[in-house]
Amino acid sequence: MMGSELSGPAPEALKGFIAAALERARERTHALTECDEEDLRKQHSPLMSPLVWDLAHIGSQEELWLVRDVGKMEPVRCDIDRIYDAFEHPRSTRPSLPLLSPEESRRYLAQVRTKALDILDRTPLEGSPLLDQGFAFGMIIQHEQQHDETMLATHQLRVGAPVLQARPLPPDVLPGEADTLAKEVLIPAGPFMMGTSVEPWALDNERPGHEVDVPAYWIDTVPVTNDAYRCFIGDGGYENPRWWAPGGWDHRKEAGLVAPKYWERDGQGWMRTRFGVREQVPAGEPVQHVCWFEADAYARWAGRRLPTEAEWEKAARHDPVSGRSRRYPWGDEDPTPHHANLGGSALRPSPAGSYPFGASPLGVRQLIGDVWEWVSSDFHPYPGFNAFPYREYSEVFFGSDYKVLRGGSWAVDSSACRGTFRNWDYRIRRQIFSGFRTARDAAPDQVR
Ligand code: AVJ
Ligand code: FE
Repeated sequence: MMGSELSGPAPEALKGFIAAALERARERTHALTECDEEDLRKQHSPLMSPLVWDLAHIGSQEELWLVRDVGKMEPVRCDIDRIYDAFEHPRSTRPSLPLLSPEESRRYLAQVRTKALDILDRTPLEGSPLLDQGFAFGMIIQHEQQHDETMLATHQLRVGAPVLQARPLPPDVLPGEADTLAKEVLIPAGPFMMGTSVEPWALDNERPGHEVDVPAYWIDTVPVTNDAYRCFIGDGGYENPRWWAPGGWDHRKEAGLVAPKYWERDGQGWMRTRFGVREQVPAGEPVQHVCWFEADAYARWAGRRLPTEAEWEKAARHDPVSGRSRRYPWGDEDPTPHHANLGGSALRPSPAGSYPFGASPLGVRQLIGDVWEWVSSDFHPYPGFNAFPYREYSEVFFGSDYKVLRGGSWAVDSSACRGTFRNWDYRIRRQIFSGFRTARDAAPDQVR
């Protein structure tokens, strides 16, 4: 979100920024639900909702928080609350619900949005935690963008997936110079500020800011590439239980995993199908669609390990000169197309070694955008955590069932991405845009 951590933007500028971000999210939602009615209603995978459920659920959350809670207005529709409550109905059961039709859903979203914009207009963005800096609006913008990313994962799962139009990345971000960069970067031992108490739209699980002392470690300069991952496969990585975590080996066997999702053998090589386009697996691209067990097994095979969540965040945010934590690896400035591959229009990660302007102070690249990065840590609350504004965003997921993913993928919008942002999923999930990088311990006094 715009503005520095200390002084927020002027009220009118903030409202303009919110209105534009709401509009941008809505354009994306509509573009992702342009397909025919049958494709919107169908469940393309039991892992996912029918697209038309996501569509109306986006409106339902906006109604709940902006129209009813912030605006104190009458419900737009109170007959559908339960249908679109994610906790009442698990994803696999959603196709059998009496869902609104695509047309009804679009009308509903438009009605809610008209009210939300009125409310934005007349409500001072201060005086309560929900209103301060427009938090409730920021939360709803991020919610819509998160569901847009989920819908992209659904599209990728569709049989005969659509050929979505990919937008090329700006040329200055694409040196793809991974071969000339140092393989890994040393992050010296010492404390850093993890999480935040000041970032206006940070969600509850990113708070509060707290100091964490991190021993020295080495971390990969770039995410693990398809080429590197192919060596793991070629070396029999999927056949050797010694690389796999407890539970991971059994899962690998039962699920029949032999390669990342969407890969197929083609003679000696590998092909992948990406949004309906079949192509050779691009060697220099970060590997995508691996589960936590695969990431963890690769790291062990490579004689390394996944970074902890604190190690990931220190690499992404700690400024060794000032000692403070940045909002992003490159500084406090909001992401631009020159910093990171975000927003969803590229339809793919950029080659490893891209984005020189997005590097961290110590030279770690592509921490933001491209692929979500699995870390070794379970999803736990930070010390002093307070559920806000509802327990079901984060709190009910805390514990050892979920692993954390960091940094956002190419499919994430900049409004829902920052150095403190935390995502989580089951270890076995790989329909998400997930990859990883590896790390290793360094001697405590190592400086080079
Ligand atoms: C943060 C991506 C795990 O999709 O389950 C959407 C985001 N929360 N609606 C999810 C979310 C409520 C959440 N993740
Ligand atoms: Fe949701």
